[in-house]
Parts: sequence; structure tokens; C-alpha cells
Amino acid sequence: MVTQQRALSTVADTEAFGRELARDLKAGDLVVLDGPLGAGKTALTRGIAAGLGVLGRVSSPTFIIARQHRAGERGIALVHVDAYRLGGDLDDLDALDLDTDLNHAVVVVEWGLGVVEHLADRHLLVRLAREPESDVRTAVWEWIGPGRGPRHPVRPE
Ligand SMILES: Nc1ncnc2c1ncn2[C@@H]1O[C@H](COP(=O)(O)OP(=O)(O)O)[C@@H](O)[C@H]1O
Ligand SMILES: [Mg+2]
Repeated sequence: MVTQQRALSTVADTEAFGRELARDLKAGDLVVLDGPLGAGKTALTRGIAAGLGVLGRVSSPTFIIARQHRAGERGIALVHVDAYRLGGDLDDLDALDLDTDLNHAVVVVEWGLGVVEHLADRHLLVRLAREPESDVRTAVWEWIGPGRGPRHPVRPE
């Protein structure tokens, strides 16, 4: 797998990056977001939502665990999960009692690293790091699992 990296100087950059990622997302995809509080996970999700064209405003799902956004023109819904308070593995997304048909949705999980990867055979992992005393965030991302990397993967040393 190829790991890609980018500096995100402003929140607008983070949202634009989310819109860019969304161009490549398909229904059924799982996106795992990692990074500390304030790293921009929700801002990135806002960009992904804009790129998917889903309905409703993205905000932190902290107090409800999962927020569902209905599909817009692309026909792809968004399920935005905050795994912070799940306290361990999520055995099944059914446990979230969603109305959304996951075959027609992208699932984005904040704090999802180590919690949800096993729910899909592959996922897009985006790690966001926050520079101290600066607005700059760094995103490092890669598809993990079969079927979604470049055709001729280059193994970075
Ligand atoms: N480059 C940047 N990318 C994302 N957010 C930024 C950036 N610079 C400043 N911010 C601010 O940092 C905060 C990020 O919050 P949020 O997206 O909720 O983070 P998280 O969901 O990771 O806790 C927001 O207040 C946002 O305006
Ligand atoms: Mg958040």
C-alpha cells in the first residue's frame, strides 16, 4: 500500500481534502479517521459529506454516536460515527440501530482506529496530526486491505 501525506494549513484545506477523497469513495466504503481532539476529523468529514453531496449539516456526533445523512445526487448516504465512547470493538454496525442501508452508504468513523477495521475487508485510514500552536494539520492516508490501492503498488521504504 502507498501512504500519501499532505499538509493542511487551514480548515478550508482540510474540507477541500475531504471533498477530494469523496470523489474516489463508493457506496459500501469504510473510512477510519484517527488523530487527537481538534485534529480536524469532523472538519474532514464535513468535506467528505460535501463531496458525496449528502443532505444535512455535519457536526460532531459525540453525544449520539452515529449521525445519518441521506443521499443527494450521487445516491450515496453517509453514516458519521464517533467511536470515542464506544469503549472497545464494535462487533457489528447493526448495533448502532441505523435506518441507513449500508450498501448505499459511506461510513466514516472518528476515533475508529482499532475499533472498526474488522467490519470491512478494506478501509481508507486517514491519520490527522496537529502541529502544536499552529493551525497546520498533517494528513497521512492509505487504503488498507485488498482491492483499492494503485495497480502496481510501490512499497515505500
Ligand atoms: N488546518 C486545519 N484543519 C482542520 N481544522 C482546523 C485547522 N486549523 C484550525 N482548525 C480548527 O480546529 C478545529 C478542528 O475541530 P474538529 O474538526 O472538530 O476536530 P476533531 O473532530 O478531530 O476533534 C476546528 O475548530 C477548526 O476550525
Ligand atoms: Mg470530531
